[in-house]
Amino acid sequence: MAYRHPLLDRRFQVTSDRQVLSDGEVAGIVVDYVKAARIAWNAGADFVDIKHCHGYLLHEFLGAFTRPGRYGGSFENRTRLLREIIAGIRADANPIELAVRVSAFDSVPFHPDPALSLPGKPGPGIPEDFSSFLPYYYAFGVKAKNPLEYDLSETVRFMELCASLGVKIMNFTAGSPYYNPHIQRPAAYPPSDGYLPPHDPLVDVARQVQAVRSLKAKAPKDMLIVGSAYSYLQDYLPQVAQYLVRAGWTDLVGIGRAVLSYPTLLADAVEKGALNPRLVCRTFSDCTSAPRQGLFSGCYPLDKYYAAKPDAQILKDLKARQKAAAKSGSAKHSG
Ligand SMILES: Cc1cc2nc3c(=O)[nH]c(=O)nc-3n(C[C@H](O)[C@H](O)[C@H](O)COP(=O)(O)O)c2cc1C
Ligand code: SF4
Repeated sequence: MAYRHPLLDRRFQVTSDRQVLSDGEVAGIVVDYVKAARIAWNAGADFVDIKHCHGYLLHEFLGAFTRPGRYGGSFENRTRLLREIIAGIRADANPIELAVRVSAFDSVPFHPDPALSLPGKPGPGIPEDFSSFLPYYYAFGVKAKNPLEYDLSETVRFMELCASLGVKIMNFTAGSPYYNPHIQRPAAYPPSDGYLPPHDPLVDVARQVQAVRSLKAKAPKDMLIVGSAYSYLQDYLPQVAQYLVRAGWTDLVGIGRAVLSYPTLLADAVEKGALNPRLVCRTFSDCTSAPRQGLFSGCYPLDKYYAAKPDAQILKDLKARQKAAAKSGSAKHSG
């Protein structure tokens, strides 16, 4: 029999006109998660990742301190959705393993510094003015008195909750690619709609490395910890990865962009003791700019397969047009 959420039966309705989604609509989403996990199991997947990161829905609920009703406010309410999804998956007799990817900490939205921006050339990122929103109750894993600094106390609690619900893998990332991309995906070159790095991107790599180190030190036994945001390390990625795993700062190093441009990066480091520098990701961000324009994601600058696609030229033209529009003052920047 198909899984049904109890709130659907009671036709739970809108609790506040400030809510984008009513509690009843959220209940409908739980049912969709349960269905998706069933499809994954039937397709042969070993586990599903219940994503709580990057400004997507479950990440928003973790930071829903001001939401009224059963999905906002207390830690218990803000994590209710996870508990309901997992209870639903199990009530559906689905034995699939569980993983959770979570933004361990967030920050405020950033935008290009107008004082240092030129037409068509966004300046370095600066935080939005949050002075009239203090204490800051709009983000998970930050200090309410200073949301530019992280506070992992609730992240540890969340990790413990996940372990108690049978989650075996925690994959930590940070922030959101949509409003503070330098926190989440340290890069030398921003995506076409972004801002220049506010500081050396190594600062942002180190922030995630240290956060994951603290979380790993408190991780429940048997939980597998995966860290993120190592690609900006470029030629030094294999050495750092080896150190982090050997020193027990993380169990696994999760790699994003660097394997797009160079899928055999780690194999070459181990087997050849050297990398091909022409394939190392230089964080040009085309793999992000492209899908934001409705094109395939891929490493257009370094991967011949993508460079030869018609999308490569379309992306080039789009970027040129975006630049020209920004120069004429008709384009807006977004994080
Ligand atoms: C093109 C692209 C697509 C991504 N898609 C996802 C995604 O669907 N889900 C997710 O959790 N992270 C996604 N990420 C973020 C990466 O998983 C990773 O956290 C981020 O790129 C930082 O790691 P890196 O320095 O190894 O690239 C994406 C990143 C890129 C560049
Ligand atoms: S497009 Fe290629 S070089 Fe640029 S960030 Fe993506 S993977 Fe790295």
